[in-house]
Amino acid sequence: MRGKTVSSDPDPSRREFVGGVLAGALTLSVGAAAAETRPLKAVAAQKGVLFGTAVGNDTPGTQASSFRDPRVVAIVRRECSVIVPENELKPYGIAPALNQYDYSDGEPIAAFARSNGIRLRGHNLLWNQTKYMRKWLVEWLGGVGAPEAERYLRDYIKHVCTHYGDQIHSWDVVNETVEPATGELCDSPYTRLLGIDTLRIAFEAAREAAPRAQLVYNDYMSWPDRDEKHRSGVLRVLEQLKARNVPIDALGVQSHLKDRAADYAPRAKVWKGFVDEVVGMGYGLLFTELDVRDRDMPADIAVRDAEVASMTRDYLDMMLSYRGLNQVLCWGLVDRYSWLEEDKPRPDKAKARPCPYDDAYRPKPMREAIAAALEAAAPRAAVPA
Ligand code: XIL
Repeated sequence: MRGKTVSSDPDPSRREFVGGVLAGALTLSVGAAAAETRPLKAVAAQKGVLFGTAVGNDTPGTQASSFRDPRVVAIVRRECSVIVPENELKPYGIAPALNQYDYSDGEPIAAFARSNGIRLRGHNLLWNQTKYMRKWLVEWLGGVGAPEAERYLRDYIKHVCTHYGDQIHSWDVVNETVEPATGELCDSPYTRLLGIDTLRIAFEAAREAAPRAQLVYNDYMSWPDRDEKHRSGVLRVLEQLKARNVPIDALGVQSHLKDRAADYAPRAKVWKGFVDEVVGMGYGLLFTELDVRDRDMPADIAVRDAEVASMTRDYLDMMLSYRGLNQVLCWGLVDRYSWLEEDKPRPDKAKARPCPYDDAYRPKPMREAIAAALEAAAPRAAVPA
């Protein structure tokens, strides 16, 4: 499981290594083609939108180590007004044992954001699925009652939010807590003890400890037919929490797009219906993890890149028509570091091409699609400074 490497590897030379990478990045060019175009953050800023990506500070050479590649860092500096650590702020990364907190994995990313005037998002305070929890936590929660579980969850959230203070303007407070196959709340050691109150407790604790931050429920429900239960489950959770005045500001729409580009148009109406309901309840929207899983697309690179770009464009055009959507974050900018290569490889073994830049750090049609969609979007109220 990623994100736990630094807690077991507190080697200070890792930090020096990243420092060296950052210094080197200042002088690197991101390629002639990119240099001639306006940075995505500038195109986005004109419309009141933050543009950014996830970056990973994992062991060098692994999929989630984009932040350790100076060429990626150079692209991030040029293109992004916001970044989010890919795994480093997840509870399994921060809490190696009961009442122990280890922030070392995320620190270089937070420091980089500060020194470059880039906003920082936090992902996440509670990933409410047993498989993403540390063994010690699952075992400990299995042996305590509801009051102890609530106390721990509140303490954890307070600790982490206080550590980052106002640097994090937007938190994924709860990540993925609806079972896609049934639409029911995930069965986790927390929900077994606290039910849906788990979510209320998490958001209340976040509001208390990070009063100025945007608080987000983040999930990957999407437009395909098979996501119907997932969508309705998310709506139910949002409705129930609204009825209880739980402080949630926005739905994070992960946006791991998949299937074929032609599949999107016939389902856009259903998807729009879902988004309308979310917005109708008063929630804001943001893209937290945009990428395109190209598994079902033809292997031919030009054809595939064009299809990824056209799907991105159609989807972004529709979503950006909602004026409340003012943050667009990709889950990686460079194909070489995409989690999809490892987690969801193509059956034909062709290298996945889910991101706006290719393995040689060259901008792809997907980047043009994002720029064009932002260019075409109406201006909106920006995320407060
Ligand atoms: C993924 C990371 O990208 C991988 O490196 C890690 O192995 C697993 O998690 N939805 C989320 C993200 O909310 O946290 C996931 O990130 C991708 C799907």
